[in-house]
Amino acid sequence: MSRIPTLADLGDVRGKRVLVRTDFNVPMENGEITDDFRIRAALPTINWLTERGAQVVTCSHLGRPKGQPNPKYSMDAVRARLAELAPGVELLENLRFDPGEEANDPAFVAKLIDGIDLYVDDAFGACHRAHASIVGPPRTLPSAMGLLLQKEVEVLLGLRNNPKHPFVAVLGGSKISDKLGVVDALLKVVDSLVVGGAMCFTFLAALGNPIGDSLFEADQVDTCKRLLDESAASGKTIHLPDDIVGLDAAGNFATFGRRLPDGAKGFDIGPGTAAAFSDVIMDARTVFWNGPMGMFEDPRFAAGTRTVAQAMADTKAFTVVGGGDSAAALAQFHLDTEVDHVSTGGGASLELLELGDLPGLEALRGAPNA
Ligand code: 3PG
Repeated sequence: MSRIPTLADLGDVRGKRVLVRTDFNVPMENGEITDDFRIRAALPTINWLTERGAQVVTCSHLGRPKGQPNPKYSMDAVRARLAELAPGVELLENLRFDPGEEANDPAFVAKLIDGIDLYVDDAFGACHRAHASIVGPPRTLPSAMGLLLQKEVEVLLGLRNNPKHPFVAVLGGSKISDKLGVVDALLKVVDSLVVGGAMCFTFLAALGNPIGDSLFEADQVDTCKRLLDESAASGKTIHLPDDIVGLDAAGNFATFGRRLPDGAKGFDIGPGTAAAFSDVIMDARTVFWNGPMGMFEDPRFAAGTRTVAQAMADTKAFTVVGGGDSAAALAQFHLDTEVDHVSTGGGASLELLELGDLPGLEALRGAPNA
């Protein structure tokens, strides 16, 4: 595997026009950015280039406009925020307004790099997409990974290849099917897996527990059985909730054990489980967390996620949080600066942990200056 070029491998950038692919796919509400974490995360690379006299042109996707211009997904708000944080830096219109972006169309790549001298990929969150702006420019332009991408790769491959033990992965969110590949990969390197979020109901059902009307994936029950059997055979523990918080059949707030009555719905791990999960995190030396423990947007069902977030902040372990909802939860509890690394990538961090590589990294390895 040849190496991935870094910013220093670009040589003298003074006076050069540099296309920087960023992931400015930020959460928006009514046209306003609700969290600018991904914009701020790109600043070290942008500043590195501008301080050395480069002319920076940034580009990103925003949402999924499906190859059509759509004012709802315009980059205007992002451009305004970027102008405050990095004056004078250009930002192109939403890449996904052109069908050539997702189709990795060579004609779209040619349009993107017209008048550009160098390419930098700092869009970790989009590096699992073999889209034009990610894999196209390094075919012809001297290229490099930006500082954010470099840090993400170091941290996440470090977890995969060389973690300090005990290594615990805490997984939540609704669907086990989305995370199956990463669960398989993680079970090879972790000492234990902690499972909360709606995905725990598929595991609880696999153990024969009634789960009421809780969300679960009937077609994944056998997979969960296999994961439980394999982990037991290899001496690894999958920690599942012993108590659940949710609504009873009449819609009243209730706490249950592992067995939910007919009509009940679980929306969070219970207090006993939250305390037990917290102990596992406190005893670990490395923790990776992806996915909330419950429906934390609703204050009635936020306690489990809050307890796990607090344990992430309190433990002496090296702590890494996958992007997306768990990063949003940490920010909601004002604990985002209390962990070692918050990844800017949701899907990308899982895919890198699972496969050890991403299309964007592979493309950079093939660049003419690599
Ligand atoms: C993300 O938010 O995970 C990235 O920006 C990728 O977005 P996508 O899933 O729409 O490709």
